[in-house]
Amino acid sequence: MPAATLDRPLSVVGVSGSTHAPSKTTALVSSILDVVARDRADVATHLVEVDRIGPGLAGTVRRDALPASVQLELERIESADLLVVASPVYRASYTGLFKHLFDFVEQYALVGTPVLLAATGGSERHGLMIEHQLRPLFSFFQSLTLPNGVYASDADFTDYRITSDELQQRIETAVARALPVVARVAPEVRSAFF
Ligand SMILES: Cc1cc2nc3c(=O)[nH]c(=O)nc-3n(C[C@H](O)[C@H](O)[C@H](O)COP(=O)(O)O)c2cc1C
Repeated sequence: MPAATLDRPLSVVGVSGSTHAPSKTTALVSSILDVVARDRADVATHLVEVDRIGPGLAGTVRRDALPASVQLELERIESADLLVVASPVYRASYTGLFKHLFDFVEQYALVGTPVLLAATGGSERHGLMIEHQLRPLFSFFQSLTLPNGVYASDADFTDYRITSDELQQRIETAVARALPVVARVAPEVRSAFF
């Protein structure tokens, strides 16, 4: 498969499923976006924070009834070249609002989209939430879930900032593994295969 040459910036959209601000999950997604922007030229990053759009999102069960600002976020998610999705672990899964947001995403909009999975939890013991909850959700969308997920626990943060060198290294590794894949499956290339 040839590497894609884009005549526009690479669109990288992060989604934080946290219901709070400040948020460790949002800090994690932001750090991943920062590393992507540092390591790949011509990138446009955007962060969707569920806690910010929550009031307009939570009270609505039909996409056409969503506020225009939330619809715009959905369009950004659906047209991303790379998605970085993260949620805090709530009761061994992603948050309800994170799922509510993705329930509005068009079923086939994310086919072939590379997705970097990430999560934060109170303990190390729920790290497999990425594999048992997040990965199946994006498999449903027929997305290209990337092999390296990033899990962080409360101990990796101080005052909602990453203070763990090990976590920072896991972020670096996940991004380094992701970028070569992203270059090869940009939408212009994907459309020829899916
Ligand atoms: C309602 C609720 C349920 C939670 N359930 C879990 C859980 O099952 N496993 C876990 O490791 N942490 C659990 N936690 C802890 C959060 O996942 C953890 O503190 C997370 O980093 C918070 O992210 P945030 O700062 O982005 O909100 C829970 C927290 C809340 C508020």
